[in-house]
Amino acid sequence: MEKTKSFNKVSITTELPGPKAKEIIQRDEKFLAKSTKTLPVVASRGYGCYVEDVDGNTFLDFSSGISTTNIGYSNDYIISKVEDQLHRMWHFAGTDFYYREQVDAAEALINVMPGSKDKKVFYTNSGAESNEASIKFAKSYTKRPQFIGFIGGFHGRTMGALGFTASKSVHHEGFFPEMLGVHHIPFPDPYRNPFNIDGYENPDDLTNAVLDYFEEYVLDKYVPANSIAGILTEPIQGEGGYIVPPKNFHQKLMKLANDNGILYMMDEVQTGFGRTGNFFASEYFGVDPDIMSVAKSIASGIPMGASVVKSKYEFEKSGLHSNTFGGNILASVASMATIEEIKRQDMLKNSRETGSYLNRRLKELMDKYDKIGDVRGLGLMQAIDFVTDRRTKKYNKSLRDAVADRAYHRGLILLGAGESAIRFIPPLIIKPEEIDDAINILDKSIKESL
Ligand SMILES: Cc1ncc(COP(=O)(O)O)c(C=O)c1O
Repeated sequence: MEKTKSFNKVSITTELPGPKAKEIIQRDEKFLAKSTKTLPVVASRGYGCYVEDVDGNTFLDFSSGISTTNIGYSNDYIISKVEDQLHRMWHFAGTDFYYREQVDAAEALINVMPGSKDKKVFYTNSGAESNEASIKFAKSYTKRPQFIGFIGGFHGRTMGALGFTASKSVHHEGFFPEMLGVHHIPFPDPYRNPFNIDGYENPDDLTNAVLDYFEEYVLDKYVPANSIAGILTEPIQGEGGYIVPPKNFHQKLMKLANDNGILYMMDEVQTGFGRTGNFFASEYFGVDPDIMSVAKSIASGIPMGASVVKSKYEFEKSGLHSNTFGGNILASVASMATIEEIKRQDMLKNSRETGSYLNRRLKELMDKYDKIGDVRGLGLMQAIDFVTDRRTKKYNKSLRDAVADRAYHRGLILLGAGESAIRFIPPLIIKPEEIDDAINILDKSIKESL
């Protein structure tokens, strides 16, 4: 088998998309049902932070499979561990029998979780499935029927998770009724919020505004606290636009929840595995959630997810939930190797350091272009938000889309988030020089798009 060649610089040598890419896209349209494709990149192979397409063009990837390949592409250690396992066995029915790798992976995962280590892992294959399991844990333990979610939240597209998702109404078109009993409250977005509070200047006011709203307009008026099983939230809203709430928000809300017998359920599917500079963003916010959903980077792109629950809240009997592929052997091995690699290469440190460098460079662009209304993020989870006017903060979606398209033509893969933001989520091994390359491309792309 051909060993992955290393390549480490942007190189665009054909028109984009190139001829081979065009042909595959045409066949994709013929054979695949519509999903959510946004850029015509047709990958052939990946190495580190770079993706080579089928026409031989090399892109710098600042999307990391939407934070799924946090350790970069074609990591040698993951390859060797998975390859070795492949020759021994790649599936056994973990639903009914046992194997060491699943147990070892669960122990390793619990060990990198914030707070108490007295936890249990339920393995799944995706973010949405992890949230489905988290919902079941909360319902099963509390025997309560209602939940709280957040406007702007994203938790997946299966009918339970979709009941919580509230980042774009198109996700719901034609699918109601979804899971019943989910009530949405505003997320404390420091930049744009219905309370008209400048959350950067007055974070406590913003936190209190959301908590007061929850108590006065939801708990007191129509959803009794003793009917609520859980509050499901992302620590930082991802799909909704990379919204970082005030630092004390989750602690205060979790306390209010727990005082009322409500479980605090954190969806770390996108924020997890070093993305924000800690293994999990919950750590930054100082909370140890009752239930945590993870997926995406947990096994570096081999499909895997998990719902991790404090042991006292786990299922009281066998049969309440199960999952054929959850904790598959290859995924378990890849997950353990991912955790080891993140530690060995000190990727959390790099996420914090290059993340703050990226934030600084993005702020320089904000000084240069008044159509950038906000720069926000934590670690290597950063975003810029395009506005038509800084005073009104009106979304400038057309400029955002034009910039992402120009950047693609120059060899930088970027993804949107929310109505008018671009997210920057390179692999956690990114170097400052590569951030400079990306910023240069971005700068030119903005100039060309204005
Ligand atoms: C926070 C969050 N939760 C859940 C999901 C759903 O994950 P999946 O697409 O693996 O079901 C996503 C996907 O982007 C996500 O960002």
